[in-house]
Amino acid sequence: MNATCIMPGQPISLTTDSAFHRNTYDSRVISLDSKNLAIATPTLKGLKVPLNVGFVVHLSIETADGSCRFTTEVLAGDTGRHALVLRLPADCQMLPNSSPAAARCRFIAVTSGKGGVGKTSFVINYAIALAERGRKVLLFDADLGMANVDVLMKTSSRSSIVDVIEGYRSMHEVITPTAYGIDIIAGGSGMATLGALAPAQMQRITLGFKWLESHYDYVLIDTGAGLSKNVTSFVFAADETIVVTTPEPHAITDAYSIIKVILEESRDVKLKLLINKCESNSEGIDVMKRVSRVIRNFLDYTVTPIGCMPESRSVSRSIREQVPLMASHPNSDVAKCLRGIAETETLSDAVSRLEDAETEKRPTGESFVGRFMRRFKMA
Ligand SMILES: Nc1ncnc2c1ncn2[C@@H]1O[C@H](COP(=O)(O)OP(=O)(O)O)[C@@H](O)[C@H]1O
Ligand SMILES: [Mg+2]
Repeated sequence: MNATCIMPGQPISLTTDSAFHRNTYDSRVISLDSKNLAIATPTLKGLKVPLNVGFVVHLSIETADGSCRFTTEVLAGDTGRHALVLRLPADCQMLPNSSPAAARCRFIAVTSGKGGVGKTSFVINYAIALAERGRKVLLFDADLGMANVDVLMKTSSRSSIVDVIEGYRSMHEVITPTAYGIDIIAGGSGMATLGALAPAQMQRITLGFKWLESHYDYVLIDTGAGLSKNVTSFVFAADETIVVTTPEPHAITDAYSIIKVILEESRDVKLKLLINKCESNSEGIDVMKRVSRVIRNFLDYTVTPIGCMPESRSVSRSIREQVPLMASHPNSDVAKCLRGIAETETLSDAVSRLEDAETEKRPTGESFVGRFMRRFKMA
């Protein structure tokens, strides 16, 4: 396999044969020609690790087709560009990216017909509830108009997905760990709509998603409300989409409209329904039944109910405190409800893993990245 799939911006992990440099270092591709490869000075936990000329290095580069692996040597250090120049071998080993681990990461989009129904409050706390059950979870704030996960979690990300799209950083460099066991990627209001991205920018974001796919059990995507290209791109690529509504008539009408438009474009989606801000459990169940029935009768589709969350002042209090409800009000009704939803999800996931293991079946379904690329005609 030759190295034509290597492109600037791709993340690299690197080891050396040196007795003094025994760790795995991070880097990324800066540029390449037919003979040489320039990579950013390797780092360990953010600190630069300069490597000497002549060092033998083993590289693994995350490309669109999988990990490209080879061993080579450092030809020169370019301090001006904070780069190392390596000899690029004619051949490299390709490990295809459709590994079972990658196919196992579940991408869950959370969307709604109208804003203000509680998507962001839900998705932050659902992510924490999944992490409490031992899952590795990343929350990606893709609400480009109203990116606020950062604010609600009182984190301040120095970089966002925009830096990945622009090629300034790799996906793993824009991830912010939080005190609540989950990682986040901040949204960037400066991001153009996905449909308007240049091919190189699309390539970078896709490679970034591929990296996430092999490093997390769950990637939760907080999309905006409504039907912009950004929302639908994630909905059609996701393994499932949770549509959030409240019992208010206009929220229900908007939820129905978004589900209708999604299904008109593709029926190859898994849609789940969450009723939020319910005054009582019976109100929630009643709304869930009514909405599900209308969707079945008029759209011939069975939406999966995932829960009815109570209206609670603990939610607005936790927002004011900028501490997620799962941490600030762990015994509240809303937290209990979220734990129940997370338990159902992780149990059903564990059962399907067990079934695959028993039948020695590998998860063969197309992954988020595959669907995302197909949607943008990149594959
Ligand atoms: N279960 C709930 N009970 C009470 N208030 C809630 C609940 N869920 C969300 N809210 C409130 O609704 C408002 C909008 O929530 P937010 O998560 O920002 O919605 P969205 O992301 O859909 O725009 C916030 O002020 C939040 O406090
Ligand atoms: Mg929101």
